[in-house]
Amino acid sequence: MLNQHPSVFEELKKVDALVDARNEPEMVTERLPFTVRVVRSEEDILKAVAVRHSAYARHVPVFAQGLREPEDDDLKPNVAIMLAESKLDGSPLGTVRVQINHDRPLNMESSVELPSWLRQSTIADARRLGVVGGGAGRMVKMILFKALFQYWANNGVDWAVVAARPPLNRTYEKLMFSDVLDGGTFIPHPREHNVPHQVLAFEIATAKERWTAANHPLLTFMSYTHHPDIDVGQPVAFGPAKSKFTPRAGDDERNAIRQTAL
Ligand SMILES: CC(C)(COP(=O)(O)OP(=O)(O)OC[C@H]1O[C@@H](n2cnc3c(N)ncnc32)[C@H](O)[C@@H]1OP(=O)(O)O)[C@@H](O)C(=O)NCCC(=O)NCCS
Repeated sequence: MLNQHPSVFEELKKVDALVDARNEPEMVTERLPFTVRVVRSEEDILKAVAVRHSAYARHVPVFAQGLREPEDDDLKPNVAIMLAESKLDGSPLGTVRVQINHDRPLNMESSVELPSWLRQSTIADARRLGVVGGGAGRMVKMILFKALFQYWANNGVDWAVVAARPPLNRTYEKLMFSDVLDGGTFIPHPREHNVPHQVLAFEIATAKERWTAANHPLLTFMSYTHHPDIDVGQPVAFGPAKSKFTPRAGDDERNAIRQTAL
């Protein structure tokens, strides 16, 4: 006859789980003076392009000349553009673009050969990050990062992969991205005027666990603060997506933000 009594080991596991649950910090809700969402209309995309252009113009004016209009990549399937907008007057405050490798390699893969373990995974990038200047821009940047992590997690991304030039690579290192090319390599990025870029990756599923283990200063912000003003939408359909400007089922469910493991 089977022993109906749980083993001591199983009992101890339950006790451990209870202790972990008790130690879990409370979730707090924080409202922002701006919203972040995925663009859905031509008007939205032009707002994102405007703030992108002005951000790049501050730092790399010659390169920014080519960013006055939407780029081809803005309109491709499996690409999402996030837009931060002021609640006060609707002005654009920041933007970032994400591609998931569902239907083709990431844009950066035309310049760099990623290790095969990454190529065989669902990977996504973050490009064209740009924010308004000053302190407001810094807050917008952090919230755009949080939106990125939510978007990656909601859409089943295994690894986020970025190519960043110094000193901007430091931001990713601080978030615990690590170098994916042997020897901490900086590769010249032909599509970015051959400026050396560092290629870094981050495993999405273990984000909270690793930030917790590292007692990361952004853990509370990333994992224990609910920001209802971030709406990264429903997961995108796998495979060839429809035009960015075609409404998709579920688009109106703005507030149904899935609480992810982040
Ligand atoms: C990227 C960005 C969002 C970072 O914002 P932030 O964390 O508030 O940081 P700052 O704007 O103060 O920039 C941090 C440093 O990076 C430098 N930097 C910013 N963009 C840069 C660029 N494109 N190329 C080289 N250096 C750049 C700044 O001059 C600053 O250097 P410093 O510390 O020596 O003064 C913001 O700089 C921005 O909008 N940049 C324009 C767009 C851009 O370059 N995006 C990068 C895509 S990889």
